[in-house]
Amino acid sequence: MSAKIAVFPGDGIGPEVTAEAIACLQTLDQQAGLGLEFEEAIIGGHAIDEYGEALPAKAVDLARGADGALLGAVGGPKWDDPNAKVRPEQALLGLRKELELFANLRPVKPVDALVSASTLKEEVVKGVDILVIRELTGGIYFGEPSERRNGAKGREAVDTLFYTEGEIERVVEVAFDLAKGRNNKVTSVDKANVLSSSRLWREVAAEVAGKHPEVKFENLLVDAMAMHLISRPREFDVIVTENMFGDILTDEAAMLPGSMGLLPSASLGTRRGTREVGGQSRPVIFGLYEPIHGSAPDIAGKGVANPLAMILSSAMMLRTSLGADEAAARLEGAVEKALADGLRTGDLARSGEKALSTSQMGNAVRERIVG
Ligand SMILES: NC(=O)c1ccc[n+]([C@@H]2O[C@H](COP(=O)([O-])OP(=O)(O)OC[C@H]3O[C@@H](n4cnc5c(N)ncnc54)[C@H](O)[C@@H]3O)[C@@H](O)[C@H]2O)c1
Repeated sequence: MSAKIAVFPGDGIGPEVTAEAIACLQTLDQQAGLGLEFEEAIIGGHAIDEYGEALPAKAVDLARGADGALLGAVGGPKWDDPNAKVRPEQALLGLRKELELFANLRPVKPVDALVSASTLKEEVVKGVDILVIRELTGGIYFGEPSERRNGAKGREAVDTLFYTEGEIERVVEVAFDLAKGRNNKVTSVDKANVLSSSRLWREVAAEVAGKHPEVKFENLLVDAMAMHLISRPREFDVIVTENMFGDILTDEAAMLPGSMGLLPSASLGTRRGTREVGGQSRPVIFGLYEPIHGSAPDIAGKGVANPLAMILSSAMMLRTSLGADEAAARLEGAVEKALADGLRTGDLARSGEKALSTSQMGNAVRERIVG
């Protein structure tokens, strides 16, 4: 059974790190016969140069027809004008909207070999294994009205925080589903002491929790969560929250492992199905997978970017969109082994330590993928 992968390398270091992830997937394909077929499309700044728009329709069609999609990063100083009508990030927002990517997943699991790179104490960070799920297509970033205007007291502005029960239910369901394959605990985060939208969130989350009695469940206020995330992060398993709270908490959580170059992410859509893998039928969900870092224009073209977040994003794709759990575990194991062997790109190397290039790190991971 073949699997179609849409590839959007994007701008800056995007193409450099994407090439390493694809090479790793090809190595796994040779070993495990995953039937991977890759097709690439231009999006972001390069698409603006080529077609005058950040997200050409054929890129959306490519993703629609694929089993999973990989995205490097978009943007860069060339397209930075905030007043420009077409901007690279329109590609990201457009893909989320067109593909209904409503659940953004960010695993935070510091690698043992690197816990000393965290700004937090080793005893706080070691053993952390959190999955943060952020609702991605609703809330205050999309609510109407959202505008500036002149009022009786001068300039004023309004944004609207709006959620339907269906939008809350589907993302909280994802949290419970995924908690079952992990440590069986869901923490729902809101601001129910102040916001009506959060009171609805809490109500619906409790209803979903009632359908999954085997999973431990708790509610936390977002301000308390911001503290607990850095004081006792080991106590959390799956955290689920609305769009803006998730935006802020995921960046806070990203600091736990100490480097952005290591953090993958997935944005899952509504398209679900099953795939035959190794004679077994596995549930799969379509998703877009990307590192959490940006296009890093300061190091683009130098061949020094850390490809590990992109490689780990492709491992998430193998597991979640292709049902290839064993291949995903082999790839993650290869990354851990490379780091445990002391291999570092420039962003991770301490002074005096040798820094590998992007392709050297990619090769090192491939050499450690064992069949
Ligand atoms: N999903 C996306 O496509 C995405 C996300 C964030 C930012 N951006 C865009 O990226 C551009 C740069 O943004 P920024 O500088 O705020 O964030 P950034 O993540 O690109 O870079 C921040 C810092 O981290 C370093 N860095 C990032 N990824 C790295 C890697 N893999 N290896 C080594 N070092 C790495 C960079 O060199 C830089 O010093 C902007 O145009 C922004 O809009 C895109």
